[in-house]
Amino acid sequence: MSPLVEAPHWSSDIPLTSPHARLDALAPAGFVRLRDLAEPIPESEYLALEYMDWKSGGDTNFAPVATADGELDCRGFWKPGDERPDKGGRITSNGELCPTIVRYVESVGADFGRVRVIKLEPQDRDTALGQIHRDDNNRFNPDNEGWVVRSWLELTDNPDSYMCLMEQGPDGLPDPATEQRVPLHRGSQFLVDTQRLWHVVVHTGTAPRYALISSFESGRALERWLEREQA
Ligand SMILES: [Fe+2]
Repeated sequence: MSPLVEAPHWSSDIPLTSPHARLDALAPAGFVRLRDLAEPIPESEYLALEYMDWKSGGDTNFAPVATADGELDCRGFWKPGDERPDKGGRITSNGELCPTIVRYVESVGADFGRVRVIKLEPQDRDTALGQIHRDDNNRFNPDNEGWVVRSWLELTDNPDSYMCLMEQGPDGLPDPATEQRVPLHRGSQFLVDTQRLWHVVVHTGTAPRYALISSFESGRALERWLEREQA
């Protein structure tokens, strides 16, 4: 049994395999680090946003920047009777407050779904690992379209905090032997197949950590962005 989380865990039921088109760059490790963003996002763009109480991966609040219908609603893509894949996102009222963030997301060039700024309160490693999970990014995503993955852009500077990533083991739970860590200094950018990798942030700071999380559809456009940003 895994020492991190116990079976049965809801993440273990999320599919790992499917016919969706995936990015070759994510095949080896399930994530790629990109070069740091040259120009930091102004603090005013993420502190002024409207945050909602929404718990995921710890004590979190989320400011939706793009949702299924442009409304400020963290569940927008899965409204009963109007279920949609995590694509075709529309900018919310928060978008007017964060033009640099909106430009950043749009400049990727790929179809984006939910885009949110996360505010995460400090949590030590033991607390964080109790929250490790896989995402259900591809629910309602047609099999013949691109696999939805997620990007991170760190807005605050927490070089000692890290995104903890693990592959799923044969027992359907995260395998600690596969752990990889991505440092969360300001400007740190990375792309993660969060449906494949178990993930959670260990945040050792004393103040909240903010990051931009965006869902993108795998395809040629996202591949080109990776090529640009890995240079
Ligand atoms: Fe997640």
